[in-house]
Amino acid sequence: MNAIDIKNLSKTFVSTRTGERVIALENVNLSIPQGEFTAIVGPSGCGKSTLLSIMAGILAATEGQAVHFGETITGPAPDRGVLFQDYALFPWLTVRQNIAFGPKALGTPADSYEPEVDRLITVVGLEGFGDRLPHELSGGMRQRCALARMLANNPRTWLMDEPLAAVDLQTRTLLQEEILRVWGEDRPREDRPTIVFITHGIDEAVLLADRVVVLGRRPGRVKAEMIIDLPRPRFEHRDPAAEGRQVQQIWDEIREEARTAILED
Ligand SMILES: Nc1ncnc2c1ncn2[C@@H]1O[C@H](COP(=O)(O)OP(=O)(O)OP(=O)(O)O)[C@@H](O)[C@H]1O
Ligand SMILES: [Mg+2]
Repeated sequence: MNAIDIKNLSKTFVSTRTGERVIALENVNLSIPQGEFTAIVGPSGCGKSTLLSIMAGILAATEGQAVHFGETITGPAPDRGVLFQDYALFPWLTVRQNIAFGPKALGTPADSYEPEVDRLITVVGLEGFGDRLPHELSGGMRQRCALARMLANNPRTWLMDEPLAAVDLQTRTLLQEEILRVWGEDRPREDRPTIVFITHGIDEAVLLADRVVVLGRRPGRVKAEMIIDLPRPRFEHRDPAAEGRQVQQIWDEIREEARTAILED
């Protein structure tokens, strides 16, 4: 079963000011199997965030459709969790209140979500910080909190847009490992959530994903898909040479477009 099916999907933005049209995505077809970790890479402006926002139900497609477990996506839903680069925490709520936000909004009684919030605080390593406000946390801790907040709704699908782009290298490595652990690398596929993970880092995509989708640019469409069959748990089987070969292969696919993107911008 596929968690997500993108069918002949196009998205055109029309500027309300100038009337200018930008074709962000054109005729994208993509299937994301349940329980798989799919990374999406591609040059800046190729439509990665647009595609993820359509999967999240935050943006509507111009043509075609996005389907989640057989149902056409028409808006956001708690079983599609979203995590963005810029934390997107509520600044006036504590860590605990941020994490509790989703279950509370869904009307879950406090005595049932409170133990779960405590558990998640431990899962993401924020013990002792539950009563802090976001501005009292480091960037890495804020992103842990955002991850816990996404997990609080127990989503079947995790939609992540460059979630680790804003944290330092060491924190990123720790969080990469943590994401894989929380996802359940060693569990059978059917027991795992599905992850769609956008990144600029091809090495990060290879390190984490089962499959890397390369989006091309102008207009955005799927250029290539590659299976990453490195053994799991990935951090226990690091093999820089094997990773390097996969990275090289992907880089070969996007080099020309990345260069054009840099020249145009
Ligand atoms: N709300 C919007 N209105 C008009 N154009 C938009 C809008 N959002 C995105 N675009 C355009 O759509 C194209 C794709 O943008 P998108 O943000 O999806 O790219 P991206 O691949 O996520 O880029 P990056 O890697 O820099 O994050 C770009 O040309 C962008 O300028
Ligand atoms: Mg983006």
